[in-house]
Amino acid sequence: MAEKRFYITTPIFYPNAKLHMGHAYTTVISDILARHHRLLGEKTHFLTGSDENTQKMVDAAGKEGKEPLVFLDGIVENFKTLYQNLDISYDQFIRTTDQKIHWPGAVLLWENIKASGDLYEKEYEGLYCTGHEAFLTPKDFVDGKCPDHGTAPEMVREKNYFFKLSKYTDILKEKIESDELRIIPQTRKKEILSFISEGLEDISFSRLRRKDWPSGLGIGVPGDDSQVMYVWCDALSNYATAVGYGRDETMFKTWWPADVHVIGKDILRFHAAIWPAILLSAGLPLPKSLLVHGFITSGGKKMSKSLGNVIDPLKLIEEYGSEAVRYFLSKLSTFEDGDLTPEAIKETYNADLANGLGNLVSRIMKMTTDHKVDLSPEQKAVSYQDVAVGNLLKNFNIAGELSEIWTEIASIDEKIQKDEPFKTIKTEPERARKDLYAILERLFNVALRLEPYMPETSKRIIEAIKTNKKPENLFPRKD
Ligand code: MSP
Repeated sequence: MAEKRFYITTPIFYPNAKLHMGHAYTTVISDILARHHRLLGEKTHFLTGSDENTQKMVDAAGKEGKEPLVFLDGIVENFKTLYQNLDISYDQFIRTTDQKIHWPGAVLLWENIKASGDLYEKEYEGLYCTGHEAFLTPKDFVDGKCPDHGTAPEMVREKNYFFKLSKYTDILKEKIESDELRIIPQTRKKEILSFISEGLEDISFSRLRRKDWPSGLGIGVPGDDSQVMYVWCDALSNYATAVGYGRDETMFKTWWPADVHVIGKDILRFHAAIWPAILLSAGLPLPKSLLVHGFITSGGKKMSKSLGNVIDPLKLIEEYGSEAVRYFLSKLSTFEDGDLTPEAIKETYNADLANGLGNLVSRIMKMTTDHKVDLSPEQKAVSYQDVAVGNLLKNFNIAGELSEIWTEIASIDEKIQKDEPFKTIKTEPERARKDLYAILERLFNVALRLEPYMPETSKRIIEAIKTNKKPENLFPRKD
């Protein structure tokens, strides 16, 4: 049988500012899925990257008095530092200014859509929001400003190439309805189906090349260098170019189609309508699924500098460690919005990690090492694959699976209270040893199941059990 493969992607992030908790969230849940599939023995490719051919990046570089391409290198380093500190096991980081990896495929895709007769030129006038990197309609603005970005749009009147998105309305509906392109959760599937049912409009797929853009930024439209590809057209294609489209057919055949694109709810339309339409037009298979997560708020509000409720992921890691931050993030509802405040984070840390898992491990390991209760070699050979049967991660339910692990932790705790091996060890040592063995076996399974979520913690517990030694305090209480 052919080896099973799994190809997973995060969105590529805009490098005009540093990454915030929302970006960390997408990346951590993608990492958990990537690790899960690797542990199942599948050959896994985990892609992330940065979306660089944008006006807002040029603006941000200008504010710092830097050349855009120099500015980009610095920001990308910051992204990678965050990933390293969060223990993100990505296999590839794609940059859309990469002329070797990304550009040939972006150009080939353009040529293929053109060959299908899906591109045409049109004089266009519209309101462009640089924050969204998209044209919006007048009714999207409040008091003349974009409510999401607080900025006024730019009135653009120019000749562009248009993509015949409208042509794909029916076929997209059918592919999504039938789950050939699976959209998770159901609420997002319904949302996009109702959007598509209203009829899709053709979209502008290029922009006039800007004078202030250095060469090396913006992919020229094949055959018309006065135009560059519209940033979303060039960005979406990263999922294909990264794995060889336009430069390495064998590699591309190996990995494409992607198993899942992990995205936030704000970029659903781009991924569930425009991207599959591009692929259909170019005659390429569609990704198998989209996992659409909600937004992180703080105190019920969008994190923003003016509200002063921004939580910096790097600072949070400094305070709690990457394992704990991975826990806070993966505990948030996978499919709906979730909230994080400094107070709630501390409470979760103390309740779930210090008193919950940490305390349980040290109690059990104290008893089992003191009394030399050791798992059998067969039990120690149990692997992730044995315990992952029926795992909720199959359905991308990251928070659901984590919650089941914590239910098991609570239940092991109750079992200790009930059996009281710490007392019976004196009066009925044989029974106590049997009870301890059963408890240790359950803790071992918990440690295995935890691996994709908290790889370091999992390793330390497994190591302690395998060597019958008490580990250091995993999560010291914070007061
Ligand atoms: N560059 C585009 C994506 C192109 S993918 C071909 C983009 N970049 S982004 O940096 O603005 O956002 C990247 C991801 O972060 C999106 O999936 C978005 O949903 C997610 N988040 C941004 N803020 C968020 C929260 N507050 N909470 C959770 N995720 C959010 O869009």
